[in-house]
Amino acid sequence: MSSGGPERRAATERLSPAAWLRDRVGWDGIAHLAAKKEVPIHRYTLLYYLGGMALFLFLVQVATGILLLLYYRPSAAEAFESVQYIMAEVPFGWLIRSIHSWGANLFVGVVILHMASVFFLKAYRAPREMTWISGVLLLFLALGFGFSGYLLPWNTLAFFATKVGTDVPAQIPGIGLLLSRILRGGSDVTGATVSRFYGIHVAILPAITTLLLGVHLVLVQQKGMSVPLSVEGTKPRTMKFVPDFLLRDMVGWLIAVGLLAGLAAFLPWELGQKAEPFAPAPAGIRPEWYFLSMFQFLKYLPAEIAGIPGELLGILFFGALAAVLVLVPVLDRGASLGRPSPSLRSPAARVRHAAAS
Ligand code: HEM
Repeated sequence: MSSGGPERRAATERLSPAAWLRDRVGWDGIAHLAAKKEVPIHRYTLLYYLGGMALFLFLVQVATGILLLLYYRPSAAEAFESVQYIMAEVPFGWLIRSIHSWGANLFVGVVILHMASVFFLKAYRAPREMTWISGVLLLFLALGFGFSGYLLPWNTLAFFATKVGTDVPAQIPGIGLLLSRILRGGSDVTGATVSRFYGIHVAILPAITTLLLGVHLVLVQQKGMSVPLSVEGTKPRTMKFVPDFLLRDMVGWLIAVGLLAGLAAFLPWELGQKAEPFAPAPAGIRPEWYFLSMFQFLKYLPAEIAGIPGELLGILFFGALAAVLVLVPVLDRGASLGRPSPSLRSPAARVRHAAAS
């Protein structure tokens, strides 16, 4: 049992406010970690800023999203009007909504760029396989945010695009119809879909994303920053994370805020027309750009290929693509040994690669 010595001393000693707080909260471990963290310097160092940029944009989405939900009403009768009210009546509502909408696009774009940079630098190789897998899951969540948020203003474009989008799972044999019904909250896209998507968008996805983001960031801390294969084995120069890298990170965040404010002011996000569920679908229905390739691919597939419904084949194709993305570290196990990627293993491919580089 403790004699109570140190505790009694801490309770009676006169400490400065900072020392008092440090004593009570005990953040020495975090401060020590931050002081120790170093970032390697090489020709690709710029790419290290993309992860922090994704994190910043996610926080912008959380902050602006919380402000929006103070006025937004998740029902078919009121959703459109509540967004109209936010745009026209709420002080700075137009700014917050436009930043949230542009920010969503920027967030998905930066996450894709971050993933591409990690992919091309082969940062998924051992021991960072789990960091990659948690990252792919975060990408899926980011797409989920985009899909669920698109319907919320209840405008024509979003209504019909969501109709098409929620019809896709219905093609899966067996559980497809049930899946589609669960997503829609019924057999069609209605006010029930809006409240469902709202719950997914503001509660379910943020909770899972926050958890997974925590895992992703802890993994990044535990394994440290990777260096490209071309730098491995050498001893690259480094810079301190605090304050050198963090201050540079912040310059990037400031530029992002400027860009978002500029986009919101000069190209305010449009609201369009209120959805009319019984009106015919207008021309030019399209989802957000990050679903466009999937949308067009499914649209142009023939109704049947070798007796199998075309859409089902399309879904299987994208499902397989998602699985390949998750399994990249397993599929390219040779990466940690410096072997070329599986796509470059044939002699002809190697000759082409050597000629190109
Ligand atoms: C919400 C989305 C995401 C956020 C906020 C995020 C955040 C971060 C941050 C702050 C870092 C450390 C700095 C850096 O190396 O850039 C990082 C590293 C990393 N991320 Fe992400 N990330 C996200 C999505 C992804 C995705 C989609 C992937 C890949 C599929 C991924 C894979 C990785 C890997 C492998 C590292 C370690 C890189 C290295 O050590 O060089 N992340 N992430």
